[in-house]
Amino acid sequence: MNKQILVTGGTGFIGSHTVVELQNNGYDVVIVDNLSNSKVEVLDQIKEITGIRPKFEQFDLTDKQKVKEFFKKYSDIEAIIHFAASKAVGESVGKPLMYYNNNLSSLMNIMESMIDCEVSNLVFSSSCTVYGQPDKLPVTEQTPRKEAESPYGNTKVICEDIIRDTIKAYPSLKGIALRYFNPIGAHATAKIGELPLGVPNNLIPFLTQTVAGIRPELSVFGDDYNTEDGSAVRDYIHVVDLAKAHVVAIERLLTGKNKRNCEYFNIGTGNGVSVLEIIKSFERATGEKVPHKIVARRAGDIEKIYADTSFANEELGWKAQSTLDETLLSAWKWQLRIAKM
Ligand code: WQD
Repeated sequence: MNKQILVTGGTGFIGSHTVVELQNNGYDVVIVDNLSNSKVEVLDQIKEITGIRPKFEQFDLTDKQKVKEFFKKYSDIEAIIHFAASKAVGESVGKPLMYYNNNLSSLMNIMESMIDCEVSNLVFSSSCTVYGQPDKLPVTEQTPRKEAESPYGNTKVICEDIIRDTIKAYPSLKGIALRYFNPIGAHATAKIGELPLGVPNNLIPFLTQTVAGIRPELSVFGDDYNTEDGSAVRDYIHVVDLAKAHVVAIERLLTGKNKRNCEYFNIGTGNGVSVLEIIKSFERATGEKVPHKIVARRAGDIEKIYADTSFANEELGWKAQSTLDETLLSAWKWQLRIAKM
């Protein structure tokens, strides 16, 4: 009998790519998602890629009763990967209570059921946003977390603390928080990818929609940062590389290889890339031009961040494989496909 993994938020961008990698590695997956920011058709796309349609339950994880009923129905869950959360930085500034309620209650309901139903293993979707603007680069897992720039970012800090403190109180629990840098790109089949509803906040979907003619022009938010070309620097990681890190983290917990009951890993490429370098790389990889203009900085943006990934490389035996050009080309192929959907 294959091990059963619960993936919350599994019809989302990172979640769906992780479900594919879990199924590729022989795991049985059940997805819980409220479809507030994704489409149920993703289940069919996953089946087209792996041949297996994941089991699916649609409900909101802030509903404690529904969560309890779920764990009664699926009594053989061996591990949980928790993606489900609201994640738009800008939106969170205007709707802090919605973000704190959704992101914190969902996690707490899951952890209460983990305790009640003796499910020990949790992998949590955290973010480099917990580091704020680091004083020293690259960031390691020991880099001090900073006051978050947004309620969204703060929910990631608080969720990490909820996990840490709950594991302290219930030593049978084990958790790994993966601190993502900037996930971009799409599956090689172009059957799944990033599908932002409405006007994209993030750089890559806005860029590919601009090149596809959906947006008139890409605005580059600032070229007066203290960086090589003046534009802000991030660590952009292929979403499939990121998905594979989740499988490795699950295996670490299921095989008891974790060295502490609560662990943190930076999941990035280790390379800092500027917005203007992204544009150049995209144009080189695709042969397409990116119409863009320089505008003022976006409030809340940090100047520069990228990961020291040596701990994940050594401890997890995981390393990002895709080049930036390959990653951006996959994003473009996905954009071309959704244009036809
Ligand atoms: C990247 C760079 C922008 C749009 C946030 C969250 C992170 C994660 C990803 C959820 C920045 C610049 C962007 C545009 C631009 N969230 N940019 N023009 O802000 O690094 O990270 O989203 O999973 O936790 O913090 O990502 O893609 O919004 O921006 O110039 O139209 O691109 O200023 O330098 P960010 P982003």
